[in-house]
Amino acid sequence: MSFPKDFIWGAAAASYQIEGAAHEDGRGLSVWDTFSHTEGKTKNQDTGDIACDHYNKFREDVALMKQLGLKAYRFSISWSRILPDGTGKINKAGLQFYSDLVDELIKSDIEPFVTLFHWDLPQELQYRGGWANIEIADWFSEYTRIVVEALSDRVSYWMTFNEPLCHILLGHSTGYHAPGLTLSNREVFRLIHHMNLAHGKAVQTIRKYAKKKSIVGFVPNPSPGVPATDSQEDLDAARAYTLSGSSRGLFSNGWWLDPILLGQYPKDGIEAMGADFPADMIKDGDMELISQKLDFLGINLYTGTVIKHDEIHGFEVCPAKNGYDQNALKWHVLPESIYYLSKFLYEKYKLPIIIAENGLTLSDWVSLDGKVHDPNRIDYMHRYLKELKKASEEGIDIRGYFAWSILDNFEWSEGYNERFGLIHVDFNTLKRTPKDSFYWYSDLIKHNGNNL
Ligand code: GAL
Repeated sequence: MSFPKDFIWGAAAASYQIEGAAHEDGRGLSVWDTFSHTEGKTKNQDTGDIACDHYNKFREDVALMKQLGLKAYRFSISWSRILPDGTGKINKAGLQFYSDLVDELIKSDIEPFVTLFHWDLPQELQYRGGWANIEIADWFSEYTRIVVEALSDRVSYWMTFNEPLCHILLGHSTGYHAPGLTLSNREVFRLIHHMNLAHGKAVQTIRKYAKKKSIVGFVPNPSPGVPATDSQEDLDAARAYTLSGSSRGLFSNGWWLDPILLGQYPKDGIEAMGADFPADMIKDGDMELISQKLDFLGINLYTGTVIKHDEIHGFEVCPAKNGYDQNALKWHVLPESIYYLSKFLYEKYKLPIIIAENGLTLSDWVSLDGKVHDPNRIDYMHRYLKELKKASEEGIDIRGYFAWSILDNFEWSEGYNERFGLIHVDFNTLKRTPKDSFYWYSDLIKHNGNNL
């Protein structure tokens, strides 16, 4: 067996990165509108005001997805398009947009995968404290109910949060993302806990209000350790690094996986954090609420770190060598990372895995022949997918793979400098041009990955 017969071949995108139409049809502002309009926060002062204008061009985009042969499309919902103030009054036009998108997908035989939160928190809720306000668990649950009531007659696959680590730490600790705060670790823990509570309540809400059987997961971005050699010692070191709650401070995977999947914050992490960990934030019943049983674990994965055994600390990070393979953002291209991450996480958490994002940013442009030649993206996907196939052949339960991204889009603080798409977007004319990788992926899907 290579990939299972019903393997889900998909591509992904997120609301603020592609939709544009920031001020159309009653949409409220999100923290990303405010942040990108604040001087010096994004490259070239780029914003998502127009982005790919997917809000107005979604039929054209779904037609391209159909041409590609996608089995599934993962998109996120803009909370402030549905509830301009975050709570209260519903914007019907916003709901209609997603309902029309879902219809268009289903008409094209493409399974919709809905992510409820991909970082664009309504600005009005940020004014009320955002993730620091414990009421956010109820706000999120109300929003979830509205979306589920509107779409769950046609949508089965739900993902609560995309990359909580990035939103919380980059947005509230390093300040590199919206809302651009730089809080202490002790404060950040409360945000994490509130987000976890919001996740737990949302899972309950989906299950309670879904009109058909729902398949529910969440999408962290755990950082994989890849063993430096084939030795058992290095394998154990890479596993320990990957599953640790203390290898990288608050960035350690254990902080982001254990509460939701095991119902506890990592003991080694708590010990390492000492007084920075506000144990009093955990109330009776919280951890049970947070760790609702999930149907799958989504994983976003782009890169990894080479790890070798170390007598004293158990593992040691090997810095990337000069001239290492890298994407346009200088992230290390490390195909084995997808194999080891799937293996380590499946062994520990025992949930089916869906790769919810994987892809490469390059400086693509339209060539004289009118095409976009991106051999390195094809090679990247080829290498990573071979490793994923190996994991699948070894019995790791991998259910799907989503390429990031369907379209070139607004890459957060990096603006439009980065191009992750299978489809090139000219941001002046908004013209779409499928890249060579689009056709390569299309062929791969036809063969269910057997031609890798
Ligand atoms: C992920 C994120 C996406 C996209 C991608 C490429 O962290 O979920 O929105 O930006 O990285 O950087």
